[in-house]
Amino acid sequence: MNNFKAALDIEIGNASFYKAASENSIEDFHKWLFKALMKVESEHASIFAKHLEITKPVLFDVDASEDGEANLQESHRREQIAIESYKKFADSATTPRAKEVFDALVEIEADHLGLED
Ligand SMILES: [Fe+2]
Ligand SMILES: [Fe+2]
Repeated sequence: MNNFKAALDIEIGNASFYKAASENSIEDFHKWLFKALMKVESEHASIFAKHLEITKPVLFDVDASEDGEANLQESHRREQIAIESYKKFADSATTPRAKEVFDALVEIEADHLGLED
């Protein structure tokens, strides 16, 4: 699969999860954190959709817990996947610009992991 399409799918999936996590988490702190993350991942999805010259897919229903800590664990799993994927995509990028975008995202997603500690 085209790496930009794969990245778009990752971002839409994660934005969808964060939307559900923000809605379902009981505590305000978690609601706020996941809402902020949803906005960031949605922005990332916009970048890839724009590059692919397609309409950004709508967010879909994903299960999330009422327990914010459980959602943080799922967030951690998802951010790890994003980081590993973007490292691979940066290594196989065929243009300097694509490499730059994926390298930048590796750092941004790594910051998201940091928010959970
Ligand atoms: Fe992202
Ligand atoms: Fe992220």
